[in-house]
Order: sequence, then C-alpha cells, then structure tokens
Amino acid sequence: MTIPPPIHRDVRKDSQTDGRVDGRVDAREDSRKASRKDGHDEAAGDRGGYVIALVNHKGGVTKTTSTANLGAMMAEAGRRVLIVDCDPQANLSEAFGWGEEVPGERLEDLLAHPAAPTRYSPPVALRPDVAPELAWREALRIIPATCALADLAADLPQIAGAGYEHRLRELLDRLRGRFDLMLLDTPPGLGILSGMAVLAADALLIPALAADLDIRGAGKVYDLVERELPDLRILGVLIAASERRWRITRDATDRMTADQMRVLPVHVPRAVRVASAPRYRAPTVVLEPDSIVSHAYRRLADLLIKEVGR
Ligand SMILES: Nc1ncnc2c1ncn2[C@@H]1O[C@H](COP(=O)(O)OP(=O)(O)O)[C@@H](O)[C@H]1O
Ligand SMILES: [Mg+2]
Repeated sequence: MTIPPPIHRDVRKDSQTDGRVDGRVDAREDSRKASRKDGHDEAAGDRGGYVIALVNHKGGVTKTTSTANLGAMMAEAGRRVLIVDCDPQANLSEAFGWGEEVPGERLEDLLAHPAAPTRYSPPVALRPDVAPELAWREALRIIPATCALADLAADLPQIAGAGYEHRLRELLDRLRGRFDLMLLDTPPGLGILSGMAVLAADALLIPALAADLDIRGAGKVYDLVERELPDLRILGVLIAASERRWRITRDATDRMTADQMRVLPVHVPRAVRVASAPRYRAPTVVLEPDSIVSHAYRRLADLLIKEVGR
C-alpha cells in the first residue's frame, strides 16, 4: 500500500472528473458506503488507541479547531487522548502554546529517528500555566510540530527509503497502549503528510463548511478512499462554523446525503470567539465550556466515542 504517490496522481485526475459531484456513483461504491454508515468497526479491533485523521484537502474548514476541541472534549469524557499536529503550519501546536521556543520533541524529530522514541511520552497539551485546575488536563496529550516538519516530509523518502509512508503509523502503534483515542490534524492538500496520516488512521473525519466547494471537497475524500483504501472507515462529514438555520447549511447537508456521504448529526455553529482562542493557548471548550460551540463539540465527542467503541 503506497498511498502518498497515488494520492498526488489521483487527486489531479479527480479535479478534472469528480465522479461524485457529477452523480456517477456505481452500485458497488454505494454498498460500501452503506456499510460504513452502520457505526461499527472491525478493522481497529482491540489494538488500543483508535486513530482518527481529520482530513480535507481544503484549508480553512476547521480541521485544526475541530482536532483541538474534539480532543479536549474526549478527554473531558474520561478518555486518554493524543492529538498530533501533522501540519507544518503548526496551528494546532500554536493553539496550545507550543511555539518553537518550548523545548521537547516534535513530530518531525520522532519521524526522523524512529528508534529514539521508545521511552518517549507525549506531553500534556495545555501549557502548565493554562487552566491548572482543570480535572482532565493530564488526559489530553500532544505531539506538536514546527515548520521543520515540511522539510522532513520532503526528505523522508530519501532518509527512510521504502516504506517511509508508514512511519507515522509505526510511531502511533508504539503509543496505542497509552491512549484511547488519537486525533491527527492534517495539512491542506493531499501530500505526503496527509497520506501518512490517512495510512495511520483507523477512520477519517472530514471537517467541511456548508459551502458548494466544500461539498466537492468532501466528495473527493470519499472517492479517494474508495479507490485507494476501500476498507478505511469514514466516520462522516463534520459541518462546522455553519448555522443550521442557514439555507446553505441545509442545502449542503441534503446534497451530501444524496451523494451517499454521511453528515454527522451535530453541527458546530459559527462563533467569532473561536478564532481568538489561540491567543489564550487553549481551545474554546476550555475557555468557554458552556458556550454553544462547546456543547456541540461535547455532543460530537460523545457520539464519536460511542461509534468507535472507545
Ligand atoms: N465554529 C467556528 N466559528 C467561527 N470561526 C471558526 C470556527 N471554527 C473555526 N473557525 C476559524 O476558522 C478558521 C479556519 O479554521 P481552522 O481550524 O484553522 O481550519 P483548517 O485547519 O481546516 O485550515 C480559523 O481562523 C478558525 O479560528
Ligand atoms: Mg489547520
């Protein structure tokens, strides 16, 4: 299974002929998708921590925000959670105050030296001075990244040789026993890092805005998985930063559902303050645990925990 190169090739092909948006979906695909919707999972079995990659080749669709807030709410629900910043933009790291000046291993270090992290323990995600009284703060851990992750990703095929695309999976496999859930924040685009995250994942979650281009984007992720990894589970499309009462939200939901995509039943509403959370080095669910955004992420976290059986 060599996902990263095919992803490049097929996504370019996809942008010209997107079968899903054109409505050309064959019956075999439909039956596969139906089987993904039934909410149980055989592939992950009892392998410990369940890995969910938040993937969408579009940027600005709340991949990072949803990773941070869902991770926190899963920890609040009593789960041991690892969030992993697989994006060299390092927005997830920064959202928790993991700037480059903070000492400690980054994802790029762990991928570059796979033998080293045998005693590695991912640090608590919230910085020590942020919400020190929070009951579940120890349960949420992070593997941060910096922009150097981009260089490592470019060099990895040469450094690691054949099988390099499985390095993230191998790293997470070593940590599975310590976590119930692992959430991977991915960069925009379907390059090497997104490909490695997809290969490491037990399931994908597709954050999307309620907008025409996002319907296409979500469809492309479904199509890609159908072609390359038909056994990989897609938990569904997470509609965020959109109001349920907006017509475009209803339209988008209806069109995705008609296209055999599963739209998760809880939408995360839009709230301007979500965008200013990173300056406080904590996600919205920590800063404003009773806001409607927090309630939405809490319900989503509960739903996903139940669906993946962790
Ligand atoms: N529920 C929300 N309401 C308002 N703004 C949001 C919400 N969720 C995310 N945002 C903002 O939208 C922008 C894109 O979100 P982000 O999580 O960075 O997306 P991605 O990781 O997919 O690029 C960010 O500025 C973020 O703060
Ligand atoms: Mg992001």
